[in-house]
Amino acid sequence: MTGNKEFKPFLRWAGGKRWFVKYLDVILKDFQYKNYHEPFLGSGAVFFHLPQNNQSFLSDLNTELINAYVQVKDNVDAVIDKLQSFENTKEHYYSIRNKCFDSGISKAAQFIYLNQTSFNGIYRVNLKGVYNVPFGYRSKDHIQAEILRKASIKLQNVNLRSGQFDEGLKRIEAGDLVFLDPPYTITHNDNGFIKYNEKLFREEDQHRLSSFISSVIQKGAFYLLTNAAHEDIRDIFQSNEPIELSRASLIGGKKAKRGKYKEFLFTNLEVNQDSLIKATHERGC
Ligand SMILES: C[S@@+](CC[C@H](N)C(=O)[O-])C[C@H]1O[C@@H](n2cnc3c(N)ncnc32)[C@H](O)[C@@H]1O
Repeated sequence: MTGNKEFKPFLRWAGGKRWFVKYLDVILKDFQYKNYHEPFLGSGAVFFHLPQNNQSFLSDLNTELINAYVQVKDNVDAVIDKLQSFENTKEHYYSIRNKCFDSGISKAAQFIYLNQTSFNGIYRVNLKGVYNVPFGYRSKDHIQAEILRKASIKLQNVNLRSGQFDEGLKRIEAGDLVFLDPPYTITHNDNGFIKYNEKLFREEDQHRLSSFISSVIQKGAFYLLTNAAHEDIRDIFQSNEPIELSRASLIGGKKAKRGKYKEFLFTNLEVNQDSLIKATHERGC
């Protein structure tokens, strides 16, 4: 079962998995699963890439993010109308950023607008929970009506929920596929767990994720977990030996340069590592 390019994420998202779908196509080739679960949804790069399945269960801890998905699913034209009333200028950006909208549709439009016009598309809030990313000076159209309409089609009949990744365990059945992409709380060098991320996804959350995976396996379901390539992570998820994936990444601020990063992939699916490496290299990756 391999994916397609018809549908695209409508958000920019830190840790987005667009780069991973070429590996996924190789891993899931000839593999049939029942329902699909993605509890760290973000921009949903993997969900939008995969073909439509029996049922999909998508969730994320970020309630504003999930509201944006719900409104794109149920009220896409109203969201587009609202987006069209917003301008991609610095002045307008800060006035929209400071507004408290009442309706779910306006909140979704605000969320998508800020995501598309902000500095780098990251979702960052201050200690009071107020979004504080500066204006991005991007020339790109912030409305993307076609991508939103297609996303809305793909989201029909999908279950959307905000909450903790392990709250959806009871819905997972034998033969289902669960894709897990938690925030990376490990640095790419050897410094271990990142301090500033401690509130976001702590070491204990990684252990909770490991128990969740044990339950998924016990149910007879399949999982794919991407995580930072670090020995601490290898120790926590030790029941399976990880596959090392490599990806190009832009690092640094003003002195940005391209680097190659390794990430771990843990799974209970049968993966032929040679064919994975061969297929992704043949495609010039
Ligand atoms: C690395 S991002 C996922 C990126 C996604 N795969 C994509 O392609 O855009 C991790 C996501 O997990 C969410 N998250 C963080 N902690 C969580 C938790 N405890 N339970 C559920 N979701 C959580 C974040 O809000 C974020 O959207």
